[in-house]
Amino acid sequence: MGKLSLGPDGLLGSSPYIEEIRQRGTIPRMSGVHITADYEVCRLILRDRSFGVVSPNHPGLPKPIRWLLARTDPGLPNLGEPPSMLVTDPPDHTRYRRTIGQAFGPKAIAALEQRVAEVADELIDRLESTPRPDLIGDFSARIPVTIIAEMLGLPPDMHSTLLKWGDSGAPLLERGLAWSTYRDAVEDLVEVKHYFERQFDELENEPRDDVLGMLAADDALTRREQVANAALLLDAGFLTTVNMLGNGIALLAGHPDQLELLAAEPWRWRNAIEEILRYDGPVRMTGRVANHDVDIDHQRIPAGSLVLLSLAGANHDPAVFPDPHRFDVTRENAAEHLAFGSGIHGCLGSRLARLEGGIALPALFDRYPDLRLDGPPIPHPLRNLHAYRSMPVELGARATPR
Ligand code: HEM
Repeated sequence: MGKLSLGPDGLLGSSPYIEEIRQRGTIPRMSGVHITADYEVCRLILRDRSFGVVSPNHPGLPKPIRWLLARTDPGLPNLGEPPSMLVTDPPDHTRYRRTIGQAFGPKAIAALEQRVAEVADELIDRLESTPRPDLIGDFSARIPVTIIAEMLGLPPDMHSTLLKWGDSGAPLLERGLAWSTYRDAVEDLVEVKHYFERQFDELENEPRDDVLGMLAADDALTRREQVANAALLLDAGFLTTVNMLGNGIALLAGHPDQLELLAAEPWRWRNAIEEILRYDGPVRMTGRVANHDVDIDHQRIPAGSLVLLSLAGANHDPAVFPDPHRFDVTRENAAEHLAFGSGIHGCLGSRLARLEGGIALPALFDRYPDLRLDGPPIPHPLRNLHAYRSMPVELGARATPR
């Protein structure tokens, strides 16, 4: 039985650990759980209704996590606990997702294009007068928080609080968690709960047509379901996108040849965003549990088994992505990545994230084509999300407007 090394770098698509999983087979058992870095197996499991989401008390989860969750008020809107749709199976999952699906559909997201461009331009304008710009705090975090707050109908003076809540909530999806981190997260969850409860109280008297209004208008949802899914949208709305932007900036700044290509052929930006998601997608891993005995690649997965799915590993599977550790914005099948998951839990916000990336990154590099990292970016100590805490940069000369 191999050892499961879930250290911060252990889950990177190109890490030796992912290679070890691959060498052991398509779905080996390591440290008591099944794990896969195989693209086809990950995709199959994500799309197969023989598998369900992982309940917080699953015996395959590390004991400290189960211990902590068992002692947490189940009414708190923890994104890793039901009734957050992320960890709820049908039929309830279908109910939650249907209520707000339209707000994240093609028409609604296309309508946000101009607003995303305005927000990105304003932030880029401000960077010039910022003494040592940090492209996480001063740029990458600001775009998604502004947009999701507007979609939920929350005022701009809440942005810093929302960012703080997001920061403390992110570790709740981690497999290893320090007690003090957990305690801070729970303190913030109490505030999140009260804040959204007040929002839903207000919506009873004054209906709105934003996303919170949509959740409030669905009589089939309990208040707890409304609050949990509002909190999920808030966290999912920026925790991941900030890192897609941050990881993308780091990758592009480190690959000037790719930036030159994009400057000469800007129509390639759409594919560049897909390649960023494939090469260094923010969500490195998810999990599923077998609802009954299932055979995959001649391997029996007994009912109730936890299967860890390395999305980063799948996205670096050489059988699907030739020369997988090469960052190549012209890669033809980059968009086949699993960075947004797949199947019924496939990312609800993928269109929004693609829109934000496809506007913000070209706008930044068009304005500052010589942008360079000012020292190595500071990594976030999270394992499940690949994220940077801060990314100081030298902007370089401003391009003359075309
Ligand atoms: C680059 C940015 C993003 C990435 C990489 C990402 C990644 C993911 C992944 C991998 C899943 C599936 C997890 C699983 O199956 O276990 C997921 C689900 C989800 N995402 Fe995203 N996400 C991003 C942006 C967003 C945004 C902007 C929103 C919207 C506000 C959002 C909302 C959600 C929701 C609500 C779910 C749960 C869907 C369900 O359970 O049916 N995400 N995301």
